Amino acid sequence: MGLGAVFVPYYLSEEQGWELHLEELHRALESAKGVCNPVALYVINPGNPSGQVQSRKSMQEVIRFVSEKRLFLLADEVYQDCIYGEKSEFVSYKKVLTEMGPSLSDTVELASFHSASKGFMGECGLRGGYVELVNLDPAVLKYIKTLFSTDSCAPVLGQMALDLMMNRPQPGDPSYPLYDMETQHIRTTLVHNAKRAVSVLNSLQGFCCQPVEGGAFAFPRVYLPPKAIQKAKEVGMQPDTFYCLRLLEEAGLLFSPGYFASWHLRTSWRNY
Ligand SMILES: Cc1ncc(COP(=O)(O)O)c(C=O)c1O
Repeated sequence: MGLGAVFVPYYLSEEQGWELHLEELHRALESAKGVCNPVALYVINPGNPSGQVQSRKSMQEVIRFVSEKRLFLLADEVYQDCIYGEKSEFVSYKKVLTEMGPSLSDTVELASFHSASKGFMGECGLRGGYVELVNLDPAVLKYIKTLFSTDSCAPVLGQMALDLMMNRPQPGDPSYPLYDMETQHIRTTLVHNAKRAVSVLNSLQGFCCQPVEGGAFAFPRVYLPPKAIQKAKEVGMQPDTFYCLRLLEEAGLLFSPGYFASWHLRTSWRNY
């Protein structure tokens, strides 16, 4: 990480559909003692690449945790429009924080991120995104404003895409029927693709994939045989990196290694 920042990892519970556990956050914070002084907690919801959607209860726990530990909450919510699970619902951290009322809603410092490249539009070529800052210390805000004003801005096309994403056609607008038809089609296809990706992955020997409730990825666990692990060691690679390379060379399939405690593959299934 640049600027001398240190990364303190915390792990999600795979067996429980990649749930975030409070004890794990405490463990991670404790592990930083003597190494660095953590100032922020970064959460991705819906998860990438894990594909889970956080429950309101879990978000409330996170908010209480950051408040107690005086951490800046960085909520990466770029996949908020990509929800597929029948019972899953995206709720923003800002909403949950507001609902929790004072003394949390007026003190917890929060940054929420969104991008035109994600969402259901998936416009990766149109570079544009935003961050919404809540309860930020005015002394810090001053520096952020300076930073944002001196940094080069997103290209005009990206800014237009972002504007369209935020101000969508409404019922009664001339373009609404076509917009509605196209977005419904995209959503239906994405739900279908997400379910199909998980079911195909789970049908493969040695693979185990948690349900995908949101986001753009599936993150299956792969149980590699000892010989494959040995072979990877011989060529000086992590076993999942080795597997991905072989998959690309032999089957033309592009997966990325998971870089997780156990072997996982990161795979996007979004093409429609
Ligand atoms: C969770 C998450 N946040 C942020 C980004 C950055 O998005 P972009 O740079 O396309 O706006 C990505 C891109 O893959 C992502 O997966």
